[in-house]
Amino acid sequence: MRTAADFNLFYATPDPWHISHAQFRDKVLRRCLKPFIRDKSVLELGCGEGHLTQAIFDKARSVVGIDISDVAIARAKSLSLPNARFESADFLQASFEGYDVIAALECVYYLSLPEREAFLEKVAREHSGKILLLSGPIVDYRRHFGHKRLMYEFTALGFAPLRLHNLSVYWHPPSSRVIAGLIKLPLGYTLLDWIPEPMIYQRLYALRAPKQR
Ligand SMILES: C[S@@+](CC[C@H](N)C(=O)[O-])C[C@H]1O[C@@H](n2cnc3c(N)ncnc32)[C@H](O)[C@@H]1O
Repeated sequence: MRTAADFNLFYATPDPWHISHAQFRDKVLRRCLKPFIRDKSVLELGCGEGHLTQAIFDKARSVVGIDISDVAIARAKSLSLPNARFESADFLQASFEGYDVIAALECVYYLSLPEREAFLEKVAREHSGKILLLSGPIVDYRRHFGHKRLMYEFTALGFAPLRLHNLSVYWHPPSSRVIAGLIKLPLGYTLLDWIPEPMIYQRLYALRAPKQR
């Protein structure tokens, strides 16, 4: 796992992943997540500078955002969002008690395989029946975060997949860029879930943690 110091280095410059420019991802996430978060209490893991807290989770009843980088958390706090509070913590060590929904958007792929297993096991074991929202790049070059591997882990632990949504198209090979451009046209996003898997870059999984065994 990368450390707090590693992530603080990323955050030496604000918005290191240009997240504030990812308006298309925001739009798609907003539509996909709406039914899961409206009026719910949400724990947002790896919230960074609070961009999604502001852009997506404003419809939640309350949000607690946690991030390992205290630099990012200081920026998130400065947004003064009315429904949110922020804490600097490693989410592998944090308590997930007391929330309806656990959201781990674009952060779980930083974990090693054993860390990810421990994370998923913790949610499955201790948070029965809750919703887990997880997103990340599923392209093949990150084999350990590929779709097949993830589905295997989810089902082995008893998670029920509720929804899968494609969030963005991979820009390689160059022909994919045409598709990536098309889906950004008005209403183009409605085609996203129909695009073949090898062309997909990021995917969102909405899962229900298993009932107590
Ligand atoms: C690529 S950014 C994504 C930020 C935001 N979730 C989004 O999608 O816009 C990944 C974030 O995860 C955080 N992160 C990674 N591992 C973490 C951990 N173990 N505990 C808490 N935060 C972590 C990083 O500090 C970083 O802010």
